[in-house]
Amino acid sequence: MGAMSRILSAVAWPYANGPRHIGHVAGFGVPSDVFSRYMRMAGHDVLMVSGTDEHGTPILVQAEQEGVSPQELADRYNSVIVDDLVALGLTYDLFTRTTAGNHYKVAQELFVACHDNGYMIKQTSRGAISPSTGRTLPDRYIEGTCPICGAGGARGDQCDTCGNQLDAEELINPVSRINGETPEFIETEHFFLDLPALVEALRTWLDAREGWRPNVLKFSQNLLDEVRPRAMTRDIDWGIPVPLEGWRDNPNKRLYVWFDAVIGYLSASIEWARRSGDDDAWRQWWNDPEALSYYFMGKDNITFHSQIWPGELLAANGQGTKGGELSQFGDLQLPTEVVSSEYLTMESAKFSSSRGHVIYVRDMLERYQPDALRYFIAVAGPESADSDFTWSEFKRRTNDELVAGWGNLVNRVANLLHKNLGAIPELAELTAADQAALDASLAGFDTVGGLIGAHRQRAAVSEAMRIVGEANKYLADHEPWKLKKTDPARMATVLGVAAQLVSDANTMLAPFLPHSAQAVHEALGGTGVFAPMPQRVEVDDLDTPGRSYPTIQGDYSAMVGTWRRRDVVPGTEVPAPSPIFVKLDDAIVEQELERMGLA
Ligand code: MF3
Ligand code: ZN
Repeated sequence: MGAMSRILSAVAWPYANGPRHIGHVAGFGVPSDVFSRYMRMAGHDVLMVSGTDEHGTPILVQAEQEGVSPQELADRYNSVIVDDLVALGLTYDLFTRTTAGNHYKVAQELFVACHDNGYMIKQTSRGAISPSTGRTLPDRYIEGTCPICGAGGARGDQCDTCGNQLDAEELINPVSRINGETPEFIETEHFFLDLPALVEALRTWLDAREGWRPNVLKFSQNLLDEVRPRAMTRDIDWGIPVPLEGWRDNPNKRLYVWFDAVIGYLSASIEWARRSGDDDAWRQWWNDPEALSYYFMGKDNITFHSQIWPGELLAANGQGTKGGELSQFGDLQLPTEVVSSEYLTMESAKFSSSRGHVIYVRDMLERYQPDALRYFIAVAGPESADSDFTWSEFKRRTNDELVAGWGNLVNRVANLLHKNLGAIPELAELTAADQAALDASLAGFDTVGGLIGAHRQRAAVSEAMRIVGEANKYLADHEPWKLKKTDPARMATVLGVAAQLVSDANTMLAPFLPHSAQAVHEALGGTGVFAPMPQRVEVDDLDTPGRSYPTIQGDYSAMVGTWRRRDVVPGTEVPAPSPIFVKLDDAIVEQELERMGLA
């Protein structure tokens, strides 16, 4: 990576069909923010975009359940999700929504670009619809008896009992899981993305990828072994109109939710640029082959980011076997990396809101510090294998590692400085041991930074905590509290070194623990914004007069916390410290398990 790179942090768009649980933010949220914060601290020009995904069956089904219109439902949860993500400290440059007028425009323009280049082919297919609403009934929303093993409750895409893939039309006694009626199978016309005409270009791109998590790359490459055209329109009345003559005004044909959602990365970048006052600023992240783009998501999203989205980009660029021309969006760059995580289970059960085995971000942040959750996800999250959240492990890590390890170090050093010196001392003569401690700490910037850059956040945060452990050991070994009477000059030096070690560790932990990083910075007498925070900002829709909506935005450039050692400044006053992290009572484990109905 060169001196300064442009980096697009493209974060998966949560469905606005309910509050988000901690499994969601473990997949797309915290990892993308740690990465983006680090890259900004290291001097790169990061554009981090996302928003709520507001179309498709997931929204319709929930709207029906709550007895509101799809737009009302989306408004409700868009707002909740914005608040949750802000509370977690996720530094989006723009978090918007797929019902923004700008998104409708960009999604339609991209569809037309793919169509003009010949990659949207009209085909007739058979599909299920709900006879009462005329809406497409996706296979997984159809239930019936398995034609192979005879088990009940088989879904239209697969039978969980025997594991066989199914065709919805083969189910015995199929019913809609949405409203119980018997689906009707009809012939219907749709536009299909011509993946066979794009597969060669997709393979060339994938084969040139370096540094991807091996299972993500393998999975993506395997997808190309049997590609078929994929429908990018649906029989549904909620979504973006299909921008073609004869289709545009048909109230029952819409763009497929996944076709439009992935375009969100581009449209949000454009919306960000329009709001920044430079309409073309987004092109620096999208048209420059030197720019880097990282897409963060859970593993159920891989197909859409390593095949459908790059397929759409190649089609719009005219870069498949059918040729074509660049669209108005110019030469759109394909993802540098699809960074996919695995699943977070909860007390050993896969998150399932229907069974109540779920912890909502909102509930968690009402009772616990955001950095405690961020820490757990960073150190024990599902980075490259499924991982399990348990309350006892959450309590243990918070108390043993954050409170007793890091928080205690900060507190002791600040307290000793405050009580004995009142300020950061001059570093007089350094012993070999002092120098060794300082050198080891300094080396952490490269190791920890390198690991974050390689999407190995579990190793990165562990390494930063190991450095914290070394600093604790330095303090224990040199016992400055015993030197006040006998050798005050040496005491001052040891405390000065300790202050530097705390400052270094705080910088290295800041991408993971931004809220406490700010507090630690101030505990050592620092001023200014060390770790910037996002804000909820209400904006007017740029294209739909009279509409406004909440977004997440922030000014993340004016921070003092950059990725390097800042020499502590002698004479800086050190105030009386207060604890950075809240110690958790043993009783919370039982309480939380009871709340979840597991005790
Ligand atoms: N809403 C989808 C989900 O929660 C993710 C969409 S990512 C996007 O699984 F890029 F397509 F928006
Ligand atoms: Zn079966």
